[in-house]
Amino acid sequence: MPPSATATGRVSVITGATSGIGRVAAAGLARRGDTVILVGRDPARGQAALEQLVAETGNPLLSFLAADLSSMAEVRRLADQLRARHDRIDLLVNNAGALFQRRRESVDGVELTFALNHLAYFLLTDLLTGPLQRSGAGRVVSVASMAHRNAVLNLDDLPLVRGYSGWRAYQRSKLANILFTRALARRLSRFGITAACLHPGFIATRFGDDNGGLFALALGAAKRLFAESAEVGGGRILFLATALTLEPGAYYVRNRVSPPSAAAQSEPAAERLWQVSLELTRQWRDPGAEAAPAPIS
Ligand SMILES: NC(=O)c1ccc[n+]([C@@H]2O[C@H](COP(=O)([O-])OP(=O)(O)OC[C@H]3O[C@@H](n4cnc5c(N)ncnc54)[C@H](OP(=O)(O)O)[C@@H]3O)[C@@H](O)[C@H]2O)c1
Repeated sequence: MPPSATATGRVSVITGATSGIGRVAAAGLARRGDTVILVGRDPARGQAALEQLVAETGNPLLSFLAADLSSMAEVRRLADQLRARHDRIDLLVNNAGALFQRRRESVDGVELTFALNHLAYFLLTDLLTGPLQRSGAGRVVSVASMAHRNAVLNLDDLPLVRGYSGWRAYQRSKLANILFTRALARRLSRFGITAACLHPGFIATRFGDDNGGLFALALGAAKRLFAESAEVGGGRILFLATALTLEPGAYYVRNRVSPPSAAAQSEPAAERLWQVSLELTRQWRDPGAEAAPAPIS
């Protein structure tokens, strides 16, 4: 622990903590003295990030859990591990996400962007509702994006088989993050849990690099010219994670509440998305496994 930091007793879980803005936010939470559980899909990268963050922050209360969050069975396994270790969770940051230039499906047969960027947020939050409730002041921060603007939810065409575009799939998933946050805030406020989401900015991270080809080249050039640093983007996650109060269900840009697109403010769309998400994750949801069940449906 750095000389200035004392343990806060807070338990924070952050997905996508091995890289980019998630890693920066995890470092900030560690510097505050939180117990931080870093989640990533690659055990070797996770172990390396863990060791670096412990050395950087001096906080020994960090751990790493591996899960490929595009698989709902892995989300379930992760939640089981978290619940076994932590009776109480104060903060969940849903951050892990990606863009896939070529259409792919998850192991569960769901379009991969929707599975990783939305369904994982939905299911992990659902399974951790009990520990978040026991915090007394639980908070769920979801990383959305300005990319949601002009997005179409189109739940009648979840697979996006015809005319797939990586950008459109990504836009839809980020619209889903904002609609999910609205519906979540409404459902969870009675349990003292606050939910909000944010656009972190256009940030120079590894985001999109895996795609290779022209897309990655163009994105790389844009990042060099226009992007802000991972420290700035991660700092915006930290703002929502640590602000004394947040507007429930709100979308934040540059640390301020900002109106999202009209499509992202549609209550019927938020409810429809909720029902579809319940259906797609039903097999892995098990409210009965909670000692004090707090289902979010
Ligand atoms: N960068 C931007 O300009 C920008 C703008 C708006 C929103 N965002 C959002 O910010 C979030 C973080 O992105 P970033 O820019 O920090 O990108 P990044 O550097 O690529 O980090 C993404 C993180 O997600 C993890 N991840 C990816 N696929 C995963 C999977 N299947 N299971 C578990 N973890 C997985 C990655 O793990 P690995 O280390 O194993 O790859 C990494 O830790 C995303 O939700 C993104 O949509 C980014």
